[in-house]
Amino acid sequence: METEPREQPTGLRARALAVASLFVAPRSPLDYLRASALPSGGHRARVVATRAECEGTATLTLSPAPRTWSAGQHVDLSVLVDGAYQTRTFSISSAPPAASARARTFDVTIRAAAHGRLTPMLVRDAKVGDDVRVSPPAGCFVLPDAGAGMGPLLFVTAGSGITPVMSMLRGSLSSDVLHVHFERTRDRIIFGSELDALAKADPSYRRTCELTGAEVNVDQMLARIRALCPDLHTRQTFACGPAPLLDAMRALYTELEIEDHLHTESFGAPAAPPAIRALAHDAETTVARLSFTRSQVNVDADGRTSLLVLAERAGLKPAHGCRRGLCRSCVAPLRKGTVRDLRTGMDTVATGGGVQMCINAPVTDVEIDL
Ligand code: FES
Repeated sequence: METEPREQPTGLRARALAVASLFVAPRSPLDYLRASALPSGGHRARVVATRAECEGTATLTLSPAPRTWSAGQHVDLSVLVDGAYQTRTFSISSAPPAASARARTFDVTIRAAAHGRLTPMLVRDAKVGDDVRVSPPAGCFVLPDAGAGMGPLLFVTAGSGITPVMSMLRGSLSSDVLHVHFERTRDRIIFGSELDALAKADPSYRRTCELTGAEVNVDQMLARIRALCPDLHTRQTFACGPAPLLDAMRALYTELEIEDHLHTESFGAPAAPPAIRALAHDAETTVARLSFTRSQVNVDADGRTSLLVLAERAGLKPAHGCRRGLCRSCVAPLRKGTVRDLRTGMDTVATGGGVQMCINAPVTDVEIDL
């Protein structure tokens, strides 16, 4: 279970923070100090170009670039919004620099989330000259050493899951590649014309785009993958998309006993495991009472909505970053009760430590010191 007790200040610093608390409640001044710090090993960068992609999607070109990165890795971008830094995680969509070279710029391609706050703002308002803070590139959704002869590959992407794979395709890929991309409608396909051009120019790259419509059916998607790729067992598969699709692919690859062929990267909110969905269904909507004790706010919890979302729906503004369990900026003290990790189904009982609010939901009545 991922918990992290917060560091307690002492002496003069503690007194200064106590005074500052009067002005920033319900957040603590430490939250602001933590949020404004440059990520360890990270750097400041500037937007040097913006490019509209398809509807609701834009590419930002940033400079300087990280010293190096591997195609498929992601960075956290932090931008100042209403006096506090907000952080989100984005895959790098441009190709990494060639060995021994140094890139001056790098791209991130951002789709505005339907109910998001930061991504619509970035897509709509980001302009040349804006400052951002950039974490070091991270993530293991990367191709094995490109020089070692990878054998045939299958890329499965859905929606904005195309972005890390685009970095791979723009790099020096020299394998037989089959690419199955899913999108709801044709006008939402990101990089469509560039991928078409690549498929025309390079016979070793074959691509198909499957339109799902608004009602996405994971079983149908899986069936299409199997139909389009009869030699599944011969290909290393790199899949990036929503968690339910990746969960279904993991189950399939396990059933076929080729789970070591599958490499995945998910985006969006983690899917609730079946146990939690059942729990919520049995109780119709409410399974627990959630109290934010410092703010004196109580809300009903359905067992599948994260503590972070519940806090925001109640009008609170907890510190947060990636919203998917990576950056730990949403950790808050769990004072009472049991919460469940929405990704793994593991329970954590209050013992005085902290809990990541973005990936945990209440199982019993819970008190959070926020
Ligand atoms: S917001 Fe990043 S771990 Fe919760």
